[in-house]
Amino acid sequence: MVENLRPKKVSESAIDNYPMEIFPNDLNPLKTVAGGRVLEIADRLAAIVARRHSQNNCVTLFLDSVRFLSPAKEAEILIFKLSANRSWVTSMEIGVKIVTEDILLKNQRHVASMYFTFVAVDSNNIPTPIPQLIPEKEEEKRRFREANKRRKQRLKS
Ligand SMILES: CC(C)(COP(=O)(O)OP(=O)(O)OC[C@H]1O[C@@H](n2cnc3c(N)ncnc32)[C@H](O)[C@@H]1OP(=O)(O)O)[C@@H](O)C(=O)NCCC(=O)NCCS
Repeated sequence: MVENLRPKKVSESAIDNYPMEIFPNDLNPLKTVAGGRVLEIADRLAAIVARRHSQNNCVTLFLDSVRFLSPAKEAEILIFKLSANRSWVTSMEIGVKIVTEDILLKNQRHVASMYFTFVAVDSNNIPTPIPQLIPEKEEEKRRFREANKRRKQRLKS
């Protein structure tokens, strides 16, 4: 088996804790962080998870279930948490959860969640096979099961 099709654990590609301080140029007119800014960073980080898992270039095919649950303000720290939830033949679902961290109170608030579907492509931009994903922890196994249900919905759209 070629090295880049070796089945991989979720932990081999996950990003557990990517911190980003919110600056004035990240804000909308209401002085809370702009949704588009959050999506841009989430897309870039999800692409890294997809590239780590597939060891190939990947393109964004689908973004769904975007939900902004709570606003974040200047000087707060956003923490991006991402992992591959499931891989199929050439595509994979990457889950993203974003929280804010209050450094003094040491608590976290859920800000947003979403799912990206990435497709690995070869040098001609043709979809190319990717490794199977090995979920280990209970939470990873739950996401792995639920990803198949979401994919069925996406394939109808
Ligand atoms: C992604 C892309 C290469 C796929 O090309 P394609 O010819 O449609 O490829 P396929 O039909 O073989 O599908 C590729 C994978 O996407 C999956 N897919 C296609 N439509 C889907 C949908 N609606 N929902 C979920 N998965 C879908 C297929 O099931 C397949 O995955 P699998 O091999 O794991 O089963 C092509 O659509 C593309 O280049 N899109 C633009 C990507 C881009 O520029 N992104 C940046 C955003 S600006």
